[in-house]
This record gives sequence, C-alpha cells and structure tokens, in this order.
Amino acid sequence: MAKVLVATEKPFAPAAVAQIKEVLDKANYELVLLEKYTDKSVLLKAVENVDAMIVRSDKVTKEVIDAAKNLKIVIRAGAGYDNLDLEACTAANVVAMNTPGQNSNAVAELAIGMMISIARGNYNGKAGTELRGKKLGIHAYGNVGRFVAHIARGFGMDVYAYDPYTDKELVNKDGVVLLDSVGELYSTCQYISLHIPANDKTIKSIGFDLLKKLPKNGILVNTARKEVIDEEGLLKIFAEREDFRYVSDLAPECKDEIVEKFEGRFFFTPKKMGAQTAEANINAGVAGANQIIDFIENGNITFKVN
Ligand code: 3PG
Repeated sequence: MAKVLVATEKPFAPAAVAQIKEVLDKANYELVLLEKYTDKSVLLKAVENVDAMIVRSDKVTKEVIDAAKNLKIVIRAGAGYDNLDLEACTAANVVAMNTPGQNSNAVAELAIGMMISIARGNYNGKAGTELRGKKLGIHAYGNVGRFVAHIARGFGMDVYAYDPYTDKELVNKDGVVLLDSVGELYSTCQYISLHIPANDKTIKSIGFDLLKKLPKNGILVNTARKEVIDEEGLLKIFAEREDFRYVSDLAPECKDEIVEKFEGRFFFTPKKMGAQTAEANINAGVAGANQIIDFIENGNITFKVN
C-alpha cells in the first residue's frame, strides 16, 4: 500500500483533508497526516518511509529529500514551488509537481480585498476612495493575474498587464491592455498587483526605480512573494512619497520600521492567507492526491516542474 504524507505546517481546511483521504482510500493508498509541526526533525522522521508527499509552503530541502528514501513524487499543493529544492529532487529521482490554477481564485479575491481595504483607509472612519474607474496593472498574467483582472473589470477598473511570456490574444480577449514594458505598466497604473514567481531573476526586482514611476496615490498589492521586493527600495519610496501605500500577503522583513514610521499606509497579513480558503484547499489538495495516483499508476507527468 503506497503511503502519502500530507505535511502542512499551515493545515488545510478539515474538509480538504477529508476529501484527500477519500481520493486516497479509493485508490487503496494510505494517508499519513502531519499538521502544524514546529520542528524540522518531525518532518524528517515523517518522510522516512513514504512514497509520496503533499506540501504547501513547507520547505522541502535536500535534507528532507535525502531522509525520504522511498519518495517518488512531491506535490506542492499550490502555484509557487520556490519552497522545493528541485535540484535535490532531480538528483534523487523524485518528481516534483505543482497544482497550477487550483488556488488562484482565492489569491485573486485576497488581492482585491486588500485593494478595497487600503482604498478605504483600512476602515478608519474617514472618506476613502473607490476602485471604479482606477487603473490596475497586472504584473505577470498567469492564473492568479487573470482572475484578478476578471474581478477588477467587474468593479469597473481599467485593467492593464505586463507579461512577456503570455498569449497576447488571450489578454486582449479578456479586455485587458497588454503593455510592452514593465516601466510603462508602473507609470500607467495607480494600482499594481504583483503575480511574478520568486526566482533568481525576480527576487528583489521590485524596488525604488520601478515604484517611483507610480502615478499619484500609487498602491502596490503583493500576493506573490515578499522576496520579490527590494526592501531598501520599499523603505525609500515610503519615505520619499507620502502618497505611496503597500499591501502584502505576508509582512516584509522591515515591517517594524514601516509600522513605526508610516501609519495607515500599509496592510500586512499575519500569516500567508492568499490560498487560505476551504475551496482552494480542496481544489489544490485533491488535485495533488489525484496527480500522485496518476503518476504512480500511469506515469503521468503533466504537471512536473523539475
Ligand atoms: C501558492 O504559491 O500557491 C500560494 O502562495 C499559496 O501558498 P500556501 O499554500 O502556503 O498558502
């Protein structure tokens, strides 16, 4: 009987765990559940004899892969797989997959929710502003960016995008204007919603030079990764432009300084919340379980990322 470890420091909703179990039971696979672990050693022990594992933002390092002697496949139940050591997976002959699109709507709803919240002064009782008629720039038009664009258009926003890798026709069909350069996106749009992955090219790529291009009352919305922000540049733009505001799913490292100096101009989630809905957990978790079964039984590697 193949053993599947669900290792989630930040647990899935109980309904998602129940549905993952149902899928695995049907295939005669065993579910091993490890939630809310606080010590790496617990994870290292738990992976020892499992054939497959499903994680969220949990770090799957070389140490974890080396400890997992029977591991054949690791699933990142979500989009960004910057938490997986892909080189270590490949070296150990472990297939790594993500579950693209499965939690995108949840992340998109949070991006829009944070936009409303900051536009209304985080509900401070004073008159705020509306989203309708404002320009929104989607930085990277992947699954989440596309959902954000659809919802924003429903709010009456004018939506622009920058993404050199996307299908131009698809963007145009969505009623979104595709711009030729990232600089043009930032100088055109009051709101920027970030959807770039965290990798060697993008880490610390959003800094002062880009942010200073924002029109008056510019707002940066980050539901991507905190690592893509150059925090020195972030602090500089906060200091130099009193109109600049920043909302982020997860606080930056420099949170204390922002809290101390720039009251009312930010919002940070205390824990990564973008994909924290029952629906997203069910979609991503169940997709992950099915991908494991389809890989082990049929060799299907459609969502392989290594
Ligand atoms: C993702 O990359 O899918 C999101 O960042 C969700 O991360 P989480 O599963 O840790 O909430």
